[in-house]
Amino acid sequence: MRVLPHTRTTVGPRLRAMALPGLVVASVALVGLLTSGAFAGASPHHSAARAADPRAARVSDPITYSLPPSSDVTAGQQLFEANCSSCHGTDAYGTDRAPNLVGVGAATVDFWVSTGRMPLADSSIQPVRKPPRFDRQQTLSIAAFVASLAPRSTTAPEIPNVDTAGANLATGNVLFVLNCAGCHTVTGAGDALADGYFAPSMHKASKTQVAEAVRTGPGNMPRFGTGTLSDRQVADIVAYVTGPIQHPDNRGGLGLGGIGPVAEGFVALLIGVGGIMLIAFWLGERA
Ligand code: HEC
Ligand code: HEC
Repeated sequence: MRVLPHTRTTVGPRLRAMALPGLVVASVALVGLLTSGAFAGASPHHSAARAADPRAARVSDPITYSLPPSSDVTAGQQLFEANCSSCHGTDAYGTDRAPNLVGVGAATVDFWVSTGRMPLADSSIQPVRKPPRFDRQQTLSIAAFVASLAPRSTTAPEIPNVDTAGANLATGNVLFVLNCAGCHTVTGAGDALADGYFAPSMHKASKTQVAEAVRTGPGNMPRFGTGTLSDRQVADIVAYVTGPIQHPDNRGGLGLGGIGPVAEGFVALLIGVGGIMLIAFWLGERA
């Protein structure tokens, strides 16, 4: 193809600089699509229906948010005073040992207590998942008590109940690769972050806990509000995490001989890096 000289010198390098990050993202998304089975025909009905009618996605709410009943507040207060107030204070406003909880919302409390992160044993290290100290009813009571201390607010999410029946796994896979894999890795196994922090494994998280993590951003994880990821998109991610990520044997898409997530990750890497190198060669050739 013939290109005008001035186009080559002024637009060429700038275009290349702009195009490269985009191409990297595109390759990563492509790998996600490949391994998710979008090309193997996963959920063609959903994508087709949505492309035809964008309102179709809103027929049933993919996530409903709710507060535990206020009848739980008294029991929750007793549990809080016995197990949490030594660090967070009786009024939950925090002490020099633990942060304020007034206004954090029921979803934040439920996430930290149901994953066993709270009550904390050793405050010198990043809280980790451990067997929860409380049953579901007690956990909801504690969440009801803390939520009762502040007015309802959009920045303090209530407890999400995720309906993954109509979820699209292929979309969930792409969104997971773009938003989560950078810290949690493509297999969800988790990885080290800067300064001794780490993104934990997702293999034990329930649907509610995955949605809570996304909507509340625990610790060093960013919070993804409804402006960044819609409830439909979060439900797709939740379906992907609690489906193919937690049960890799049942994953859709290319089987790759069922050689396991690590080896499959290498195949994905090979395709991804190979693709980027081809693009780099192609760009170099033109320069
Ligand atoms: C030994 C002290 C200690 C005890 C006991 C304790 N916490 Fe905590 N809690 C902490 C510390 C320290 C943090 C901050 C952890 C971090 O951000 O890494 C925290 C964080 C939290 C958070 C997250 C707050 C936010 O804004 O992200 C919640 C929710 C929470 N605690 C609830 C509870 C509940 C409910 C109990 C009782 C069941 C409890 N904690 C018991 C020390 C404690
Ligand atoms: C910047 C890095 C980062 C990104 C991006 C990120 N996370 Fe996290 N995630 C974390 C960290 C750090 C924690 C642990 C927080 C703590 O306990 O202090 C965490 C915790 C979690 C947990 C709790 C796991 C468990 O069972 O204990 C889930 C679930 C989770 N993240 C899901 C997601 C999803 C889904 C996405 C994408 C939408 C995502 N994360 C994006 C860093 C990240």
